[in-house]
Amino acid sequence: MNVHYITSKNFSNSPKGPQFHETFEILGQGIFTSDSEAWTNSKALLHPLFKQQSFCLFLEKIVWEKVEGGLLPLLDHVERKSIEVDLQEESEDAIFHRYVLPRSLWKLQGWLGIGKETKMRKGLQIFDLFLYEFIRNKQLQKEARKYSSAVEEAELDLLTAFIKEKEKNSKVDDKFVRDNTLTMLAAGKSTITVGLTWFFWLVARHPLVEAKILEEIEDKFPAKEENTNQMVYGIQQVKKFIYLHAAFCEALRLFPPVPFGQRQAIDVDTLPSGHRIEPDSMIIYSMYTMGRSKDI
Ligand code: HEM
Repeated sequence: MNVHYITSKNFSNSPKGPQFHETFEILGQGIFTSDSEAWTNSKALLHPLFKQQSFCLFLEKIVWEKVEGGLLPLLDHVERKSIEVDLQEESEDAIFHRYVLPRSLWKLQGWLGIGKETKMRKGLQIFDLFLYEFIRNKQLQKEARKYSSAVEEAELDLLTAFIKEKEKNSKVDDKFVRDNTLTMLAAGKSTITVGLTWFFWLVARHPLVEAKILEEIEDKFPAKEENTNQMVYGIQQVKKFIYLHAAFCEALRLFPPVPFGQRQAIDVDTLPSGHRIEPDSMIIYSMYTMGRSKDI
């Protein structure tokens, strides 16, 4: 009730707030770190991009290539050699440190040019150099295509979609493209890897669930002669896996990759539970605890 109130019903009084912006300052003014008007503008712009048919086609193709060309051969190798593999990638170390260290300490580290802060800044410089160069090249490629052929791309990657938007929307500049590209990488990569790691761990410990997942796949797409080797499914096909979806949601409930959320009140407020919130109060809510609370 309280979380719904903060994040939805009285959303305008509970932005992410200055402390959140400071912790995630590396993401600039991307949708993840913005509030109020800037957030509304980013949302209005980004939301339709993800729904474009050409973007979905591109996504499907990339996932296919990555799974068939990378993941499956790797897992095959791991199985043949009977070696152990750690599926989880290292997450954003420096941001985690900003949460666990006192603010004055990580600020001092940044100022002295030592520790995780400096490593992160150096990494970001390289990322920015790479990305701005990439944006320039994409633009040049796009120009060249415009004059050499009129063929429109059937598959659209996110960066090209941002650049197209930049041409017709004055609110979109290189900084917007940089901030939102980094945001998507940062917000999407670790969450998915952490989520999948826990999912596979749980499935490995529950053979009955594994059997049901396999049964559902076989039931929806029976192995025929011609597709015996099919192990990658398209967006429309994946939607048919109801049990698999539920199993993944269950993994997210037990081990949420984003275990807590934070907001900062603007004005004095009273939560549905009757608790009074003072202006500027930090409100932290735990998805991990909520997912395991019998009352919820
Ligand atoms: C299992 C995977 C994922 C989980 C558990 C997850 C979880 C979350 C949560 C809890 C938030 C809210 C943060 C807050 O407002 O305090 C959030 C926001 C966000 N996530 Fe994810 N996420 C996942 C995957 C992704 C992916 C793949 C992307 C992008 C490619 C992404 C992009 C974003 C963005 C842009 C926001 C900010 C949205 C806004 O402020 O309106 N997430 N995510």
